[in-house]
Amino acid sequence: MTTTTRKSKRETILRQSLINRFVHWTTALAIFLLILTGFGQMPLYNRYNVTKLPGAEWLGDYFITISLHYLAAVLLIFVVFFHIVNAFIRKQFDIFPRRGDIKESYLIIKAMFTKGQEPPSDKYLAEQRLAYFFIGFNVLLLIITGLIKMYKNVPGVDLPHSFLFWNTMLHNIGTVLLILGIIGHLAAFIFKENRALLPGMFTGYIDRGYAKHRHVLWYRKLEAGSHESEGHHSEEQHRDGTIHPGC
Ligand code: HEM
Ligand code: HEM
Repeated sequence: MTTTTRKSKRETILRQSLINRFVHWTTALAIFLLILTGFGQMPLYNRYNVTKLPGAEWLGDYFITISLHYLAAVLLIFVVFFHIVNAFIRKQFDIFPRRGDIKESYLIIKAMFTKGQEPPSDKYLAEQRLAYFFIGFNVLLLIITGLIKMYKNVPGVDLPHSFLFWNTMLHNIGTVLLILGIIGHLAAFIFKENRALLPGMFTGYIDRGYAKHRHVLWYRKLEAGSHESEGHHSEEQHRDGTIHPGC
C-alpha cells in the first residue's frame, strides 16, 4: 500500500456499512421502477406520446408494466422487512425520529443560512431523521394500499366501491408525496454543507474532519468505542486509523 492511500484512509471514516448501502440502493431501485411502471398503468405514456420515443414502446404495454410493478413491489417489501428486522436485531435506531427533531431542524437550517453555529448532531441531522420518517411513512402507506389493490385483482374478490376508491386515492397521494420527498432528498445535496455525505452512500467512507465537525456526538461515540475495544481487538484492526462503527 502506498503512503498516499494510507494517508487518505486515515482521513476517512466508515459511515455507511455494506448493509446500509444495500438497503438504500435496493430501495431506490425498487421505488424508481414502481414510479415508472405505476405511471404506465394510469396510462400516461400512450397519452403523452412517450411510447414513441426510441426504446420506450414497452412503457405502453399494460401487461409488462403491471408485471414489473408487482416484481418491484416484492423487492420493496423484502428490503423494507429486511431493514426493520436488521435495525431491531442490531439495535440501530440512529435514523429513527426523536422528540425535538422539528425544532432542531429549524435551528440547523437557520444556522446554514446565517452561517451561525449548528446544534451538535448525532449520526444523522434532525432533518435527516424527519426525511427518513416522511419517506418511510409514504412507503408503508404505498405497500398497504398496494397489497389491497393486489387483493382486489384476485378473481372472485369483491370489495365495496367507496373503499376501493379511497384506497386508490391513498395509493396516488402516497405516490405524489413520495416523489416530493425524493426531490427534497436530492435537493439537500445542492447545499455544499451536505455534499460530503455523498461518498458515504457509494464507498461507505466520508471525510473524518467533516464527521468530527458536523456529527460530533456520533464521532465522540465512535472514538470512545474504538478506545474501549482496543483492549479486545488486535492492533491490526485500527492500524489504518479508520474507525469502524460496526454498523
Ligand atoms: C428513490 C430514491 C431514493 C430514496 C427513496 C432515498 C432515501 C433515503 C433516505 C430515507 C435516507 C436517510 C435520510 C437522509 O439521509 O436524508 C437516505 C440517505 C442518503 N441518500 Fe438517498 N434516497 C434515494 C436516492 C438517492 C440518490 C439518487 C442519492 C445520490 C445521488 C442518494 C444519496 C443518499 C446519501 C448520500 C444518503 C446518506 C446521508 C448520510 O450519510 O447521512 N439517495 N436516502
Ligand atoms: C413506491 C411505491 C409505489 C408507487 C410509487 C406506486 C405507484 C402506483 C401508481 C401511480 C399506480 C397507478 C394508479 C392507480 O391505479 O392507483 C399504481 C397502481 C397499482 N399498484 Fe402501485 N405503487 C407503489 C407500490 C405498490 C406496491 C408495494 C404494490 C403491491 C404490493 C402495488 C400495487 C399496485 C396495484 C395492484 C396497482 C393497480 C394495478 C391495476 O389493477 O390496474 N403498488 N401504483
